[in-house]
Amino acid sequence: MKKRILSMILAATMVFALALTGCGSNDSGSSSDSGSGSDSGSEEKAESNGKKVGVAMPTQSSERWIKDGENMKKQLEALGYEVDLQYAEDDIQAQTSQLETMIAQQVDCLVIASIDSEALVNVLDQAKEANIPVIAYDRLLMSTDAVSYYASFDNEGVGRKIGEYIEEKAGLATATEPQTIEFFMGSPDDNNAVLLHKGVMGVLQKYLDNGTLVCKSGRTSFEDTCILRWSQETAQQNCENFLTGFYADEDLDIACSAFDGFAYGIKAALEAAGYSEEDWPIITGQDAEVMAVKNIIDGKQTATIFKDTGLLAEKCAGMVKAVSEGSEPEVNDTETYDNGKMVVPSYLCEPLSLDKDNYKELVIDSGYYKEEEIMNAK
Ligand code: BGC
Repeated sequence: MKKRILSMILAATMVFALALTGCGSNDSGSSSDSGSGSDSGSEEKAESNGKKVGVAMPTQSSERWIKDGENMKKQLEALGYEVDLQYAEDDIQAQTSQLETMIAQQVDCLVIASIDSEALVNVLDQAKEANIPVIAYDRLLMSTDAVSYYASFDNEGVGRKIGEYIEEKAGLATATEPQTIEFFMGSPDDNNAVLLHKGVMGVLQKYLDNGTLVCKSGRTSFEDTCILRWSQETAQQNCENFLTGFYADEDLDIACSAFDGFAYGIKAALEAAGYSEEDWPIITGQDAEVMAVKNIIDGKQTATIFKDTGLLAEKCAGMVKAVSEGSEPEVNDTETYDNGKMVVPSYLCEPLSLDKDNYKELVIDSGYYKEEEIMNAK
């Protein structure tokens, strides 16, 4: 009730002024702050092979990239490489400078998870001129022929899994009543986000078309739902705007979110609007961060996508080894990832849906997380 009254007042004053912050916004999207240029410890340093790898990661503001960086460093060091691991805190210029420094140091290989996949074309040309092979890590490097291989997950598959989870959980195939849904999609400068949206819509579009799903904001296209730099704050603000603008007298049933960080922002917006256990919507995510798994256990997030970053690092380290030894790495896709200049041979790992029913098996029993890590997540 509290929620409805608040919503009605806010809706009356805000409905005309509703300005959803989306792709055009300039948020940096950090959920916690940390400096750049971090190093993490390695357990299994092998004897040096005399080669150095530059690893450029986008940000430490989300847990997944910290884990990715740690895994890459560990895996490469176990193969005898020296590793220069750098984070750029979602600052494109900082990432470019880090890469320039690595090229000047004549590293033997570059592994790059870009901030903006189109922004590195010039620095990648420099790498090519210096004969330094480049491997795109998780995010495809666009509009360049300077990239040798790509290690990632099936990114359209991530979206498909999110769509299928919602389809199943909301019982869409047999639903007799319409359900409301809003979309929170990834960064427009990240090819993964485009593919994820395609995967989601491949499953859910038919339910929007036949009225089983109703998106009251009307925002379903990628352009209308993308969130620059995967910003948690923007997701929260968008959700607040959706709730006050469109959900004054009807509940939001489903928040189709492409990222755990968005799910945290959505949770905060719902709590502020008075949603409780009885009317809490289905909320999805991506990355299976410890906080997300805790929220899933607590019923504040419904599902996420588990991407085993240890496996990704292993596949990527194998690529580094192959290019630096002049052999062929393991790939399993030579068709999908066209970056506008070339089709990049790829290894795609499988993403898995995680919820309350299978989290134990996927992330605890497998040793991916310790139970206390999840319980102590803040
Ligand atoms: C990754 C996702 C991640 C997102 C935000 C994407 O490129 O594939 O796993 O959630 O970036 O960091």
